[in-house]
Amino acid sequence: MGDETSTSIATQSQEPAAVGAGSVKQQLSKLVIASLRTTVPEVEVDPMVEVCTAKFGDYQCNNAMGLWSRIKGSGTSFKNPNAIGQAIAKNLPPSDIIESTSVAGPGFVNIVLSNSWVAKRIQDMLVNGIKTWAPILPVKRAVLDFSSPNIAKEMHVGHLRSTIIGDTLARMFEFSNVEVLRRNHVGDWGTQFGMLIQYLFEKFPNWEEIGSQAIGDLQTFYKASKNRFDGDAEFKDRAQQAVVRLQGGEERYRAAWNKICEISRNEFDMVYKLLNVKLEEKGESFYNPFIPQVLEELNNKGLIKESEGAKVIFIEGHQIPLIVVKRDGGFNYASTDLAALWYRLNVEKAEWIIYVTDVGQQQHFDMFFNAARMAGWLPDPKEKKFPKTNHVGFGLVLGSDGKRFRTRSTEVVRLIELLDEAKSRSKSELLQRLTENGKIVDWTEEELEKTSEAVGYGAVKYADLKNNRLTNYTFSFEQMLSDKGNTAVYLQYAHARICSIIRKSNKDVEELKMSGAISLDHPDERVLGLYLIRFAEVVEEACTNLLPNVLCEYLYNLSEMFTRFYTNCQVVGSPEETSRLLLCQATAVVMRQCFELLGITPVYKL
Ligand code: ARG
Repeated sequence: MGDETSTSIATQSQEPAAVGAGSVKQQLSKLVIASLRTTVPEVEVDPMVEVCTAKFGDYQCNNAMGLWSRIKGSGTSFKNPNAIGQAIAKNLPPSDIIESTSVAGPGFVNIVLSNSWVAKRIQDMLVNGIKTWAPILPVKRAVLDFSSPNIAKEMHVGHLRSTIIGDTLARMFEFSNVEVLRRNHVGDWGTQFGMLIQYLFEKFPNWEEIGSQAIGDLQTFYKASKNRFDGDAEFKDRAQQAVVRLQGGEERYRAAWNKICEISRNEFDMVYKLLNVKLEEKGESFYNPFIPQVLEELNNKGLIKESEGAKVIFIEGHQIPLIVVKRDGGFNYASTDLAALWYRLNVEKAEWIIYVTDVGQQQHFDMFFNAARMAGWLPDPKEKKFPKTNHVGFGLVLGSDGKRFRTRSTEVVRLIELLDEAKSRSKSELLQRLTENGKIVDWTEEELEKTSEAVGYGAVKYADLKNNRLTNYTFSFEQMLSDKGNTAVYLQYAHARICSIIRKSNKDVEELKMSGAISLDHPDERVLGLYLIRFAEVVEEACTNLLPNVLCEYLYNLSEMFTRFYTNCQVVGSPEETSRLLLCQATAVVMRQCFELLGITPVYKL
């Protein structure tokens, strides 16, 4: 593909010279870099390519003004930013991506993409798969620390949010060819286990013989043991000894701890299974053996100070220090996180380490990231270099009363019930609709089940992901299961409708994509085509800013654009039938990939 110049750029960076390599923005950026090097060889700047908001172009390059402020008064021959813009446009290497350019006012270079290139890019995707549209991200390996509930405590809605958001981010990175270490940083260590084990030993003298089933609800025991601990000094004593014996590795205590973890793990796994989320558990206990050496390193670097009997790190901009060894000599959440970060950087060699928890933990993350920077583990964030850490915070889930979405029975059970309810509600709506349309006979029981699961669970996920994660959102079955507005149900219908258009045409798109061609002559075809090829840069943006809602917005807009196209452009029976069917197919493929990245199972008929 491409003329000589664009091929040579592609060869320089060792990427396949296909219509595909990288997003459109990334491909235009390469051309812009080449132009900038000729236009102003004396300064090095990053290319600034954006989607054009004005009518004059599809994309624009915004480098001229910034460059002007750097070179004016330095004896440059350029008279003003507009002149720089003109030169940037003129020096763009010839390329079949660009149809034409124009320069507006203070040097914006508007770029109009070539219709035939856009069409080719879409067709190329249909032939070679959507994976050819993966953006290029600046890292090879990332850790995503998400879900991370606590053993014997509750797995609450916050953990559900973390699971959903973390899984989507993992999927988007994986799609972009980043190796993702999906880490479940389960809270499986700490003094509370001594208390719980002691309580269980006393309650069940034959603890070793009874099965997990008979133990039932660990959270209730956890609460009971806590009450006992707080109110009974002798029990407290015994519980503290239990901690020592557990941490000393005494067999009976280790076995009990293992059993407790196993019970919780089985419960968590039920939620992961329903949500189709894969995670590898490396809980807090995993990093425990590394804490002493990590703290020693920090101490040798002079970071650790004594304060009120505890060992702490003072961090600029924070009133209270980060405690790394408690007054009783025990380690805590922060010491574990420092050891985990050390491990992820040095043993796992991750370049980007991302933590998904509620915003309430922001201070904790900010403090220990800063401690890691003080230790020289991480570069200054201003340098925009890797390795890098990010806290992906999220807001609360609210109930219809506007208060925090709370549940009465044990939370794991409730989370499962919640997902079940979404499924059964979507099933009854589906049944009603099918009965009304007389279509019920076409459906097998299995199809019904699978479809209501896909629609129901997908609705819960989408309702969460479509909001900017930092905002609180109200949990409402009615809203998320509505087939109108920006909901997963609406989008599932939109996708299924495209599939049905293709089915009813009785044409074999697999064959058409090889023999037919796409043209984008109608304005609504062009708009749809341009939006389709933005997919890669949307994924890139969602990954870079760690914002899944960017992808949801894209998916919703895409379905709206498709509707406009379909309303204004006759597909079946028109002279453009082949091209338009291919556009339908491309839209369906991209929508499915969005669903896939959001962890939603697409439905082909509804
Ligand atoms: N277990 C913690 C909680 O429930 C979340 C852990 C997040 N990950 C981490 N490395 N700190 O709040």
